[in-house]
Amino acid sequence: MKKIGICSDHTGVDYKARLISYLLGKGYEVVNFGTDSTQSCDYPDFAHPLADAVEAGEVDAGIALCGTGNGMALALNHHRGIRAGLAWNTEVARLVKEHNNANVLVLPARFVSYRSAVLMVRAWLTAEFAGGRHQRRIDKIVQP
Ligand code: RB5
Repeated sequence: MKKIGICSDHTGVDYKARLISYLLGKGYEVVNFGTDSTQSCDYPDFAHPLADAVEAGEVDAGIALCGTGNGMALALNHHRGIRAGLAWNTEVARLVKEHNNANVLVLPARFVSYRSAVLMVRAWLTAEFAGGRHQRRIDKIVQP
């Protein structure tokens, strides 16, 4: 994964900016889908463009932040090609890739420190999908 899309609502805008710097420093390409304002806004307006870009292969994966993470996860998971997983610690961030092969990592900006957020991003980016029984389970998520 080299090209990462990222979005947030107003609650995640500060962490998003810092995560963009972190990712660029690690050699990733980053596409910022906004918001870049602390003005109150609606998370689906940013979730859907990120999801479209992941589904179209314009970015390899995505990171989304809102207050609890749930709004972003709910909006993102309306897209058939998206598996957006909410993480709140590094072990969950690792498992959301190893077990769920999440192509979008969702972070609850109001409930984790920035340090925790960046460690979760690192854990998710460096983990690998385990396949096997987890692939079988993923195959059962989307209904025909
Ligand atoms: C914004 O107040 C908040 O509702 C939003 O960031 C998110 O937590 C929604 O799920």
